[in-house]
Amino acid sequence: MQDILEQLEERRAQARLGGGQRRIDAQHAKGKLTARERLEVLLDDGSFEEIDMYKTHRCTDFGMAETQIPGDGVVTGAGKIGGRPVYVFSQDFTVFGGSLSETHAEKICKIMDLAVQNGVPVIGLNDSGGARIQEGVASLGGYAEVFWRNVQASGVIPQISVIMGPCAGGAVYSPAMTDFIFMVKDTSYMFVTGPDVVKTVTSEIVTAEDLGGASTHTTRSSVADGAFENDIETLLEMRRLYAFLPLSQREKPPVRTTDDPADRVEPALDSLAPSEANQPYDMHEAILKVADEGDFFEIQRDHARNIITGFIRLAGATVGVVANQPLVLAGCLDIDAAKKAGRFVRFCDAFNIPILTFVDVPGFLPGTVQEYGGIIKHGAKLLFAYAEATVPKVTVITRKAYGGAYDVMASKHIRADVNYAWPTAEIAVMGAKGAVEILYRSELGDADRIAARTAEYEERFANPFIAAQRGFIDDVIMPHNTRPRVIRAFEMLKTKDVRPAPRKHDNIPL
Ligand code: HXC
Repeated sequence: MQDILEQLEERRAQARLGGGQRRIDAQHAKGKLTARERLEVLLDDGSFEEIDMYKTHRCTDFGMAETQIPGDGVVTGAGKIGGRPVYVFSQDFTVFGGSLSETHAEKICKIMDLAVQNGVPVIGLNDSGGARIQEGVASLGGYAEVFWRNVQASGVIPQISVIMGPCAGGAVYSPAMTDFIFMVKDTSYMFVTGPDVVKTVTSEIVTAEDLGGASTHTTRSSVADGAFENDIETLLEMRRLYAFLPLSQREKPPVRTTDDPADRVEPALDSLAPSEANQPYDMHEAILKVADEGDFFEIQRDHARNIITGFIRLAGATVGVVANQPLVLAGCLDIDAAKKAGRFVRFCDAFNIPILTFVDVPGFLPGTVQEYGGIIKHGAKLLFAYAEATVPKVTVITRKAYGGAYDVMASKHIRADVNYAWPTAEIAVMGAKGAVEILYRSELGDADRIAARTAEYEERFANPFIAAQRGFIDDVIMPHNTRPRVIRAFEMLKTKDVRPAPRKHDNIPL
């Protein structure tokens, strides 16, 4: 019996060594942790239950029969984050470069199936050379099995991808179909084809970092939702994000105890929005002052900065925030902003996370770049997402709400539940200058007359009371009271239950 126990211990030790000490050292030399070290940081101490530690590949081509490494390049199993369950896979670059074989894929599929059945999220730590070249189509089939499961799990359980090394070729499409992608700066990259092929096909010369590094994907392409300095910071931030998310669509978001009083007033908010319509201010201030303990997990911070998206807690419960940012492009809606916020709203709605919207929007960004790029279709994504969302929706207009953008930004008309405005709100088809120039074109030569017309327009429309008279605004609130008022609004909506009419699925303008 002793022998058998020792043999088991030996097998375990061998599996834990992955591709061997030399390759582990090489991984460390690149500033990267190993697959197992990463799980130690991500998961609560001692919570990891490994599955399929001894699984090996079945390939016999190219001398592969002689190179069997237990685990086959991916560590899979279940664990806990902050005491809450999670399924994980962590690709081991020390084993065949973390490349995906048929059996490697089977391991990932097994934990995805368990996750869906149990209503628990999956976090995948990606560090892989892509399809296992020696396996050919068996590997491609393995990828497709993962892809299919990504789609089936979408909207059922949260799926999070963390890119911690290479992720290239068709391999990028599994992360692309998950809810969030995070990257590690300088050591991770994602692209459908690497710099060498790019050079051959298009003659472009580009580095891997420029083509698909963290900075490219968090600023330009918006493929990634955030990037962090190194493995440890990234994994700790994943723990922070996880605490905001429900385990599945069957659950409400988690509620945690807070010492932050629900009736906390914030006098600084009374002077946040300048009275001059073209003076910028940082909408983050409003979000941070309203959130429990000023804690805000921002999603896509560096892309489409004219709109802000992310998670806060109110009275302990998770709330998704969408907010125009007057500091960037005056808070206009453009293609990137609409796509970013539309996707975020759909995530919140899929997982029962109420949505708080702060509005200060002068309209859609005009111009050929936007029109040729399809702002009509892309702008409709945000409108569609808000209109389709059945979670509790509370809106606060802080200043401008002009034109179509007023309708889009969770207005009463597309079924926000509670709509508030600060006294500084201006709800109109357009700003005073533009309106007067159209309405009184014949008087444009007369400066005094135009000034009088402008003053008249501002007097009539540069306030929230006309909308309030119609019930489009439920109340005009003191900015300093925003936190207590939105907390009470969400409290009032706690039992909201709206079911869409039966249909196979909608047809969002993709
Ligand atoms: C098998 C692989 C491998 C792969 C790397 N290795 N990629 N083995 N299949 N795809 C092995 C290497 O042979 C090496 O083994 C070890 O992993 C580490 O690789 P290195 O090249 O030494 O590491 P590094 O210099 O850091 O370069 C990493 C890399 C490079 C950039 C990822 O290995 C690379 O370019 N690999 C191929 C990438 C690729 O083209 N994959 C296919 C993409 S298409 P030893 O024994 O020396 O340690 C694809 C299709 C998916 O994935 C389709 C889905 C539908």
